[in-house]
Amino acid sequence: MREIKYDFVFTDAERDALRTVLTEVATSPYTNMDAYIADIEQLRTDTRLGSRFTDFCEMSMLRDFAKEPLVVIGNAPIDPELPRFGSADPVTEKHQLKTTFVAEGFLAAYAVLTGTEIIGHLSVNGGDFFHDIYPKESMFDSQSQKTLGTLKFHRDFTNHFVCPDFVNTLTLRDTPTNEVYSTFTVTTEAMQELSDKELDILAQPRFYTPFDDVSAAEGNLLHGRRAQDHVALTHDGSARVFEGRTQGLDEEAQQVLDRFVRALHARKQMRVSRPGDSVTFSNQHVIHGREVHAINDLEGLKQRWLLKTHNVYTRQAFEEFYLQDRYGVVNG
Ligand SMILES: [Fe+2]
Repeated sequence: MREIKYDFVFTDAERDALRTVLTEVATSPYTNMDAYIADIEQLRTDTRLGSRFTDFCEMSMLRDFAKEPLVVIGNAPIDPELPRFGSADPVTEKHQLKTTFVAEGFLAAYAVLTGTEIIGHLSVNGGDFFHDIYPKESMFDSQSQKTLGTLKFHRDFTNHFVCPDFVNTLTLRDTPTNEVYSTFTVTTEAMQELSDKELDILAQPRFYTPFDDVSAAEGNLLHGRRAQDHVALTHDGSARVFEGRTQGLDEEAQQVLDRFVRALHARKQMRVSRPGDSVTFSNQHVIHGREVHAINDLEGLKQRWLLKTHNVYTRQAFEEFYLQDRYGVVNG
């Protein structure tokens, strides 16, 4: 198993200083996102953030994401108290019980400092900008962030008309006695396993993926709509695939797709997320998932918790798709 190294690790002093700054923000990211982001933007000049981190964020955006699409940060600030939620409706319980927003603040600050913007989808958690990777009983068996089990390889919003450029995560609570791995493959590395002919076939619109489980189950907005046929992999490494859901529209396309999925597994990197780990990646250049290898503590697994945002280079690019009264929230 290849290990994924940290790109940046906060010292305890840096972490505590940033946590203090974020605790002082009085607005809520769940009731007024615009005001919340404005408050976080104000922090840009706060010296307590530390230039080491702000410089790192700026530099991280200059990399070639096709070659180095993963950014891993350690010892990031998280909330001092992490409430526990039942499995029936953890998102509603979070809205009621989570009264500090350090983790949200970290992801919001990361967005501001990397010059990216957070979007929401009305079909996922009612358009919230901060999502939980947290099991939900009605979706324990789904292929979504709310599953209890293995989540196969995919790109987030594989075939949605507004597909985020980045997926940013922050681990709040792990489940150390269970064997749960986050999985990642850099698509350009998987391409090295494929022939030119196979790459040409993957670059043709001979594939189809239905809308994601969570969008279809909770949103109801995409009901009856068929997603478009698409390419599975462009020559510059942008992949659009969901293992087990994406289909080849003809026999040859299916065979090459199967080869591509095998190549993704052959080049897979795995890591165990610890609290304070922030893994962010370019959504088109990384195929990701989660593998549950052993469950020794089912109750612990039900409480595993990562916070997540979907970021784009600029919200302006998707203006036509937003709700009229909620800028940045996709109507779908
Ligand atoms: Fe995902």
